[in-house]
Amino acid sequence: MALIEAASPHVMNTYGRVPIALSHGQGVRVWDVNGKRYLDGLGGIAVNTVGHNHPKLVPALQDQVAKLIHTSNYYHVPLQEQLAAKLVALSGMTNVFYCNSGLEANEAAIKLARKFGHDKGIERPQIVVFDNAFHGRSLATLSATANTKHQKGFGPLVEGFVRVPLNDIASLEQATANNPDIVAVFFEAIQGEGGVNPARIEYMRELRALCDRRDWLMMIDEVQCGMGRTGKWFAHQWAGIVPDVMPLAKGLGSGVPIGAVIAGPKAANIFQPGNHGTTFGGNPLAMRAGVETIRIMEEDGLLQNAERVGAHLKTAFEKAFAGNPGVKEVRGQGLMLGIELAKPCGVLVQRAADAGLLLSVTADSVVRMVPALILTQAEADEIVAILVPLIQAFLAE
Ligand SMILES: Cc1ncc(COP(=O)(O)O)c(C=O)c1O
Repeated sequence: MALIEAASPHVMNTYGRVPIALSHGQGVRVWDVNGKRYLDGLGGIAVNTVGHNHPKLVPALQDQVAKLIHTSNYYHVPLQEQLAAKLVALSGMTNVFYCNSGLEANEAAIKLARKFGHDKGIERPQIVVFDNAFHGRSLATLSATANTKHQKGFGPLVEGFVRVPLNDIASLEQATANNPDIVAVFFEAIQGEGGVNPARIEYMRELRALCDRRDWLMMIDEVQCGMGRTGKWFAHQWAGIVPDVMPLAKGLGSGVPIGAVIAGPKAANIFQPGNHGTTFGGNPLAMRAGVETIRIMEEDGLLQNAERVGAHLKTAFEKAFAGNPGVKEVRGQGLMLGIELAKPCGVLVQRAADAGLLLSVTADSVVRMVPALILTQAEADEIVAILVPLIQAFLAE
């Protein structure tokens, strides 16, 4: 263990890491370098869609590595079109820009919104963002993010954001009334880092109508809640709406770095040659990872699995904690679940790991689970069997 604690003297100290080094995984299990086995309830923070060492993904990626890893966007990359055709069909939108991460996808969305405004003659475009939002750590996405702890030390922030509470259409209307510079509304269908807070179905519909009425772009950050995690391809689809701009990343490549911005007709032609770009974005390896991830999800029925096993897990937690005043709420949908406790509970991360379960605590007091979408009901029951007594003991302290 001493070896692990001192393992990274040359890596910048940006994470308070759990003193565990993982060596390999299989399905939803991972093993550390000392041979201890864990049930992976975190899935690399909602990234490992098909679990570890998937028998269909690994040979496909090996095949791609042997053919082409990278070429550059100076040339056509046929796999970009193959993945885009799929993403367009699944989302009901029309065009895709590729990048490498969630913040890059969001950065592109913010640039789209600004240029949408400039093209309409708005010199100082503003974007509506939300309390508890998390959109990334670049300067623009950090400015769109709500958490002042993350922002501290990095001012001046990027201007052009108006912040309002989530699920309160009256506040939004009030904050934007008589403001002709608003160009877009930007939100997560289910806030992840902010504590697993869903935007209500009715609220998303109201936002859609408002964006249409005022000619704003509706931009939904599905970086964490998208790609089948809630039981639909994209979490906003539970509201039956279609956004104008949708950033994706995390689960899209099953662990190969990838980001994408999907645009509908209102935003698809805003970027013209020279307006935006990236060296790595859309490279053949990442594109193959996206294509194969979606193929496996379809072949193996992972949306249905996420919905069914997620509902089972949520019900089990609700039952276990019913009447316990230490548990404020069990929230989320499918395999994106949060248990909000009445007190900060960061210590549970290490305790759960000691008990063989990987998870995270976000927003200080929310135990979060975003496992691979292959999780079985039996594995979900194992999570419950480990986690419920841990939380009960913690609340009794
Ligand atoms: C909703 C959301 N948007 C954006 C990001 C940033 O993604 P990345 O860490 O890949 O830059 C995250 C990461 O947690 C996220 O949850």
